[in-house]
Amino acid sequence: MSRQHLLLRELGLAPRWRLRHGAAPEPALAPVAANLVPTAAPVMPAVAAPVVVPAVAAVPAPAVVAPAATALPEWATLQQQVASCTACGLCQTRTQAVFGKGNPRARIMLVGEAPGAEEDKQGLPFVGKAGQLLDNMLAAIGLSQDDVFIANVLKCRPPGNRNPAVDEMAACADYLRWQIAHVQPEVLVTLGRFAAHALLQSDAAIGALRRETHQYQGIPLFVTFHPAYLLRSPGEKAKAWQDLLAIRRALAKKA
Ligand code: URA
Repeated sequence: MSRQHLLLRELGLAPRWRLRHGAAPEPALAPVAANLVPTAAPVMPAVAAPVVVPAVAAVPAPAVVAPAATALPEWATLQQQVASCTACGLCQTRTQAVFGKGNPRARIMLVGEAPGAEEDKQGLPFVGKAGQLLDNMLAAIGLSQDDVFIANVLKCRPPGNRNPAVDEMAACADYLRWQIAHVQPEVLVTLGRFAAHALLQSDAAIGALRRETHQYQGIPLFVTFHPAYLLRSPGEKAKAWQDLLAIRRALAKKA
């Protein structure tokens, strides 16, 4: 039995995480940069328009991606701005804003939806049950939290974990855009429909979006299911595993 299968079984993910028809051997990933602090603020690209691969049907874009602002704040300034943000009503109900976690120099950046109750309490994304599954998913392709940077579309918890509202996504859009500009990941991964819709300006179904590799400002973007959805619908884990393998292949190709 392979080491990977042993790991998946240990995580309670096997046999669902196995490809049914035999996957090609996966190439090894390159080690990530050891430096955990960004050294200099990169210059924002002039054009902020995301590109959707033509195979995906064109759909009207929701107004959730703000127009490009001129200056990119320093990382520390950005953290402070998020911590003290009052741009939408969520600031009145949050315990604290949730900036992100992981390696700001990571090759891969994951984008979720919004903090839940536990994230709001701890000030970190994906620390609840969905976060545990996400950790397991990353481990299954050989990635730890130091290999990724994880952020959300919304930095503050919507009360009762309701869906993000369009005006809240618009108010938060610059923060995510700036985070991506700082991290400059080689690969972006959106978890669930809100993150996909925010970055791709599309309202197509996840099922259609996840079959394509998209581009966000020249960065390959993969769409996959939200781990909370996978907890509710474990039958979809096989598809998520295929997405993970595609992400791993993309990283290996760029190494
Ligand atoms: N779900 C998300 O989308 N983000 C979190 O941080 C936690 C749960």
